[in-house]
This record gives sequence, C-alpha cells and structure tokens, in this order.
Amino acid sequence: MDSWIYSIAPHLDRAMQARDGHTSQHCDRVARMAVRLGEAINLEQHDLLVVAMAARLHDIGKIDLPDSILFKRGALNDAEWAIMRTHSTRGERFILDQRDIPFREEIARIVRHHHEHWDGTGYPDGLQGEAIPLLSRIVSVADSHDAMTSSRPYHPGRTHAAARSILVAERGVKHDPAMLDTYLAAITR
Ligand SMILES: [Fe+2]
Repeated sequence: MDSWIYSIAPHLDRAMQARDGHTSQHCDRVARMAVRLGEAINLEQHDLLVVAMAARLHDIGKIDLPDSILFKRGALNDAEWAIMRTHSTRGERFILDQRDIPFREEIARIVRHHHEHWDGTGYPDGLQGEAIPLLSRIVSVADSHDAMTSSRPYHPGRTHAAARSILVAERGVKHDPAMLDTYLAAITR
C-alpha cells in the first residue's frame, strides 16, 4: 500500500516536505490511518487508492500560504484563520492542475471537503451529513486524531486517551458517527 502512494505524486511529496516538514509528516500519518479506516469498512481497492492519495495530499494547499500564517507560533487571529481556511480549496485547485495524477478530479474533491463537519458548520461549503463525500469524512477523522496527538514546538501532543475523549465529544457534531465508531474500534483500541 505505501509504495504506490509515493510513486504517484513524488514531486508533490517533495514540495510539501521542503516547504513544511511538519505538514508533510502529518499527511503521511493521516494517509496510513485513513487507509486503515477504509479497510475496516471494506472500501474497494479504487476507493482505498483515492482516499490514500487524498489523505496524503489533503493539506497540500498550505504550501501556498504565507510564512507568517503557516509558521506562526500560537493562535491565529480571525483574519489569519480566514486565510488558513482557504487551504482546502487551494489544495483542490493544485491537484486539478497536476495532469499526471490519475483520478485527480476524485482526489481533488475529497481534499476540497476535508474540513466539512457532520453538523454543517465546516468549510468550504457547509455540507452536512451524508452530503459530505464519504472519503472526506474518513480523512477528517484521521486528520483530527493526528492533529491532536502530534506535538508542535508550542504545544505538546495530547495522549491517545485525551484525543479519544475529544473525538467522542465530536461524534455527530464534527464527525460522522459511523466513521468515528469504526475508527476508534479499529485504530485506538
Ligand atoms: Fe486541513
């Protein structure tokens, strides 16, 4: 599974690694966990490939953001958040522009919607429930989990137990209940 993730878009992996090593490593872990969740719900091989690529590239749009936002230590203000939130549509556009990536329309669509919330409060389109693409819901759970458990210079990673209780609190709010339940059973056991 791992090798083909890297063989499809090695130039994008290198670009992300060079620009922002933390985001690259985060995307790498999210891809592995998204595939595990996909396997747990018996996704077919094509969808596993699409979810792996979408997860691997989900934050690629961040490489376009200014250093002052991408590398800011501490909380972003409202104006900075508004710019940060453009990373999902920037990523969509970036992937659509890569003519050598197979299934790029499907992958770009999953990237576009990886910050939608089950209750409709996410971005960029405020999609709700099953209107959010299934593979985006999978990336979202794995993304949230990894973001909470990984350490940054300005905050330590949470324990798996702490991350788990936050994910449970977000069940049906941020996350698809079925995807979250399967994820917790499959990954944080
Ligand atoms: Fe993101």
